[in-house]
Amino acid sequence: MRSDKLLEDIKSRLDIIDVIGDYIELKKSGQNYKANCPFHSEKTPSFMASPGKQIYHCFGCNAGGDVIGFVMRYENMTFQEAVKTLAKKAGIQLSEYKFETGLTEKKDKLHEIQNEALRYFPEKLKKSKTVLSYLDKREINKEMVQNFSLGYADKDWKTLYEHLRKKEYEDALIAQSGLVFSGEKGFYDVFRNRLMFPIFNINADVIAFGGRAIDNDMPKYLNSPETMLFKKGETLYALNVAKDEIRKKDYAIVVEGYIDVIICHQHGFRNVIAPLGTALTSGHLQKIGRLTKKIVLVFDSDAAGIAAAKRSLSLLYEHGFKSKILLLPEGDDPDSFLRKKGSAAFQTALARSKSMIDFILGLKGEKTDNIRTAISIINNVKDMILKEELLKELSERSGVSETAIRKETNKDSQALKKYERGRQGKNEAKTSDLLYSEDVLLLSAIIAFQDKASYIFENIDIDEIENTTVKEIFKKIKPLTDKLDMNSILAGLEDEEKAIVTRLSLSPGFDLENVDINIRDCFKKMANSKLDEKIQKAKTAGDLQLLKSLLAEKHKRLGHD
Ligand code: UTP
Ligand code: MN
Repeated sequence: MRSDKLLEDIKSRLDIIDVIGDYIELKKSGQNYKANCPFHSEKTPSFMASPGKQIYHCFGCNAGGDVIGFVMRYENMTFQEAVKTLAKKAGIQLSEYKFETGLTEKKDKLHEIQNEALRYFPEKLKKSKTVLSYLDKREINKEMVQNFSLGYADKDWKTLYEHLRKKEYEDALIAQSGLVFSGEKGFYDVFRNRLMFPIFNINADVIAFGGRAIDNDMPKYLNSPETMLFKKGETLYALNVAKDEIRKKDYAIVVEGYIDVIICHQHGFRNVIAPLGTALTSGHLQKIGRLTKKIVLVFDSDAAGIAAAKRSLSLLYEHGFKSKILLLPEGDDPDSFLRKKGSAAFQTALARSKSMIDFILGLKGEKTDNIRTAISIINNVKDMILKEELLKELSERSGVSETAIRKETNKDSQALKKYERGRQGKNEAKTSDLLYSEDVLLLSAIIAFQDKASYIFENIDIDEIENTTVKEIFKKIKPLTDKLDMNSILAGLEDEEKAIVTRLSLSPGFDLENVDINIRDCFKKMANSKLDEKIQKAKTAGDLQLLKSLLAEKHKRLGHD
């Protein structure tokens, strides 16, 4: 079930240009905006968004739709999730609309519980002298405590659980929040006597918590288990607060720990994020990749740090990220480095961070082994331009000729090339799929001039339309003749159908100034080709009588043209 009113309200309050502009950089181009398409890889923009029509379309990969469709595709969300995200953006209270059921209802409740905890822990922090003095000792200032919504889970075993019970959440649900576990004698809080770091998704919804022991409790850090809301491999600490700066600076700094992130932000490095005690995953990169394709990895220069850097680099380049490495002096993390040496020193270290090639070539061991390591990383790069740059750099920095390096590279890249060729071929086919036949032009006319719809529907024989997708669109929008607009047209369509509509909306295929003449021409041509078909049939059948009258009709028509 969905509430059409809600969709209407969302769309009337949000401008697709603002929403898309939050994700990718849009450039004004005539009446529309264009961008490099976020849904396929390209160097020249074929993605268009229209403020007038409130739609987007990519002429390269044929993605298209309205603002909700964009968010669904971009965030990989379900329809309902996208609606919710946008409602929040538009400042709309969902409780005013009745349309939620089952799974989303549960998710909502779990979100509520996380939010309860988000309010609960900071209250405890304010009252705990020990934790406040711990924060002082760690030199985390009040502004950061506020910005990162730090809190405290007290020593008792059940206080959060009881708090949630008071709010009338059921045990089963509370247990699924990851904040409470079920023990032999009932339910207990997962986090006890810990400094609490709420973990947010990119939209600033709290989805989990991390907690650091205040004394020497083990483990030092504890994270919420994975839940319906929280996937470790897709979540980055502080992405919600760092995202604007990452986009602005066009790179992200990835560190290892919560406190490293906070101290970096406190020192003005606001594009800093961290995974949650795991190595970077492709799920993380997907999230970062929407903001930037450049990353600086910060590691301790001990053996573990170097091994971790090597592993991450391989993954980063495979996903087309340009990455640099900042190795801190052995035993230092960004937190201790900044507190000892200050922002300027960190800035200098950042400026001196090593390129992937220099980092790999500088590793201990045989030079040829290092070159091979670099080649194996480069080989996984799918972006050909980036790959070229890297091969040049590797040759320059290693002193080995490009020819030799290329020979090594080519050894295992044959398969990749084949794959690339296959993929490009497919895209091309898709783009040229839509022929501007008469029925397509008529659809295009309806989309541009909704008041022409009833005339067109009266005169067209939908069953005769050859392109099945176009036929389906005609069928679906015919009942809407009187209330046609972009929203109502897109509402009932499948992705492929939507793409045709958005494409025609931005690129109608005929001259809109003379729309009436064009519409008449279309019908004329359709009638003529129908007549030609009949003539052909009469000829094959040898029906001279029929042929004669058909030819006469054709003659008459031509005369009138
Ligand atoms: P570190 O052990 O390097 O600690 O963990 P740290 O960040 O320097 O912490 P402080 O300075 O002692 O407070 C780095 C990150 O690894 C994860 C946490 O995300 C932590 O921020 N971690 C660490 C765990 O998940 N569990 C642990 O027991 C330890
Ligand atoms: Mn530390």
